[in-house]
Order: sequence, then structure tokens, then C-alpha cells
Amino acid sequence: MPIYRTGRTCYFTESPTHPYRGIFMHFSRKMMNIKPSATLAINAKVLELKARGVSVTSLAVGEPDFPTPEHIREAGIQAIRDGFTRYTAVPGIPELREAIAEYFRRIYGVNPSPDCTIASNGGKQSLYNLFLALLNPGDEVLIPVPYWVSYPAMVYLCQGVPVYVRATSAQHFKITVDQLEQNRTEKTRILIFNSPSNPSGSCYTEEECAAIVQWAVQHNIFIISDEIYDQLVYEPAKPTGLAVWWERYPEHIAIVNGLAKSFAMTGWRVGYTLADPSLIKILNQITGQTTANICSIAQKAAVAALTGSYDCVASMREAFQRRRDMSWKEVSSWKNVFCPKPDGAFYLFADISGLYTEALPDATAVCSMLLEKAGVALVPGDAFGDPACVRFSYAVADDVLMDALHRIRKALYEA
Ligand SMILES: Cc1ncc(COP(=O)(O)O)c(C=O)c1O
Repeated sequence: MPIYRTGRTCYFTESPTHPYRGIFMHFSRKMMNIKPSATLAINAKVLELKARGVSVTSLAVGEPDFPTPEHIREAGIQAIRDGFTRYTAVPGIPELREAIAEYFRRIYGVNPSPDCTIASNGGKQSLYNLFLALLNPGDEVLIPVPYWVSYPAMVYLCQGVPVYVRATSAQHFKITVDQLEQNRTEKTRILIFNSPSNPSGSCYTEEECAAIVQWAVQHNIFIISDEIYDQLVYEPAKPTGLAVWWERYPEHIAIVNGLAKSFAMTGWRVGYTLADPSLIKILNQITGQTTANICSIAQKAAVAALTGSYDCVASMREAFQRRRDMSWKEVSSWKNVFCPKPDGAFYLFADISGLYTEALPDATAVCSMLLEKAGVALVPGDAFGDPACVRFSYAVADDVLMDALHRIRKALYEA
């Protein structure tokens, strides 16, 4: 383990082969609050167990189990065949920016110009660059809890201050305007809004969105709306992105989306931001100086995805809805577990604090026991700011999912 000397941001080098072994290395003070991603750490643990021949089912995954649809893969292959392998314009090829704008027309009926878009290396880069563009040291960012694991780390890296606003399971994990107002100060600069949510799957209704937007506009607070799961909303809930509000208040809202979850394209790394052209210009400068354009081949695949038929999206959504229904029915029947029914994404977020005992005092202990006894990996809620809960991903085949849940039930109640 590295040795941290308080106040000096120094570590000893750890590498046994490093020529300056034992000499101080100086790391940025910004790194002090950055923890490794908990979900990636669990995935690493699962891989390690599998490599040792242990049978483990991971319900910790954050990606669709479906392959990228054929016509999208073909477009990538064609791009390679055509030699489309050089640098492109930093914000993306014009075709892609037009396709992103077209997505908002097709899904939300708003009419942005391609100048209001920029492609990114996944939704993650869109979010990070927005924080870089908007935050000054000490600016506060309201982060509803439970939150997606990377928001606090990104805010810290951009020298902002996360302010957590807790939504309990009894509130179906949705914050209210009253709670936001209680946490507002003169330093509040940004609200990060994520609907459907990872980890809870909660979706805000149109009325709830309207109330939050109006509050933010009134207090000059910028909303970053992370809509990466917008295509994964299950009836009777309706998709409620903020695009319509963005059209009205472009200087107060930026929308982040991407193709990873909706089009099963996690590895292609294509995300995008919709924002006022003045902000897009800044994002373009950041991108130009740091990463430049995203992969040219992935851009062609993304154009095929966004402009093609959405039947593939609909059939994946149908499968996720079926799994949501069967897994929620099972988990919500468990004694001392409370799991609000999620409206979207592909996660259940269950309050298991009713199961805590001296031997199993928290979510991490419960998850370790389940990994050992049931051979199933889950993510403890601490990773998302809520230690009362655990997250189950249902992005696995129906039979694998139900078998894993039955094994968990056995380990919890038949021990
Ligand atoms: C809520 C949320 N936002 C953003 C992302 C980042 O997505 P991408 O793979 O496009 O970077 C994820 C990925 O897990 C997510 O769950």
C-alpha cells in the first residue's frame, strides 16, 4: 500500500523494479478523494474467481448482455474497408452530429441544430468535460443519492464540492424540490440529474421534471441531465428526458446520452452532449486539447445506429422489461427486503437493512457472504452512497438471472 504523508501529497514508489524505488513521487492533491470504481473492482474479483475455476454468476454488470446489432457492426466493418481511419473533426463528423440532432427530433420532437451537439468517448467523457467546463474550485454540485459511482469522483477531479441529497427507498429514490432547496447555497452551481437512474432504475415523471427544472432555472443552477438509459423505460412509465426543457432553457441544461446501453455498444465508446452552442464550443476546445475526435470507425457505426431502424432497441427493451418483472417479483417477495419497482434501466436497488445482524452488519458483509455461499456477485449500496441497499443487475439471460436469485434466497433464508 502506498504511504501517504499528510499535507505533502507524496507517496513512495511501490514498483520493485523502479530505479528510484523508495523515492517520493508527487501526485496531484486532487487524487486524494478519488477511489477506484467499486463496480469495476467487483468485476475484477469475479474474473479472478472464475479464473480459479469457481462458478460465479455476476449480477454486478452494468452493460447489456446482447451483442451490438448486426447492421451497426457492419457499418463499422465497412468504415474499415473504406479506409475511414484518419483523424476527423473534433466534435464528430457532420453526419454524426446531424444524426444526434435527428435522434432528439425523432424521440423528443425538439429541433436542435448540429452545432448544439458534440460526440464523446462515451457518456463518461461528456460528463467529465461538462464538469471541467462549468466548475470553478469550491463550486458545489448537488448529487442525488443513490448516485452513479463516477459523479463524486468527477466533481472532485474538477475541484468542485459534491453535496449529497439523499432519496430514501420510501421515496422510491427520487429527490424532491424541497430537499434540493434545503441543500442550496450561494455556491451551488450544478445539479446532476439521472433519470432513469443507475442504480435505482427510478424515473421522474413529467411533473417532477418540470418542478425540478423550474426550481433550477429560478436559482440559476445548471442541470446536467444524464439520460444514458432513456431508451430503457418500461410501461406504464414514459421516457421523460429534459430535451423539451433544454429547448426552452438551453443556457441552463445540458443533456448527456450515448449508445452504450440503448444500442448494446459499450465497447465502441460513443456518447454525446446536447448543449447551447457556446458551451459546445468550450467542450470542443477541451476535447481538442485532450483526446481529439472519438474513433472514426465507431462514429460510422453510431451513424448507422442512430439513423437506422430502432426495432433492435425495442426488442432489447422488451427483454429487459420481462426480466425486470420476473426479478422484481422474486426479490420483493423476500422477507425484510424492500425493493421499489424500478421503471427503467436494468437494475433493482433493494433496501436490505432489515437483514443486518451482528454477523452481517452491512451491505458489504452481505455481498461477501452471497459471493461465497451463493456464488453470486452484487454491488453493495455504499458504492452508490446508500449503505442500506444492494444493486442487482438484470442484464443477464432469464434463466441465469432466476437461478442466481434462487441461490441468493436459499443463502439468505435457508441457512
Ligand atoms: C448513469 C450512467 N451514466 C453514464 C454512464 C457512462 O456510459 P458510457 O459507457 O457511455 O461512458 C454509465 C455507465 O455505466 C451510467 O450508468
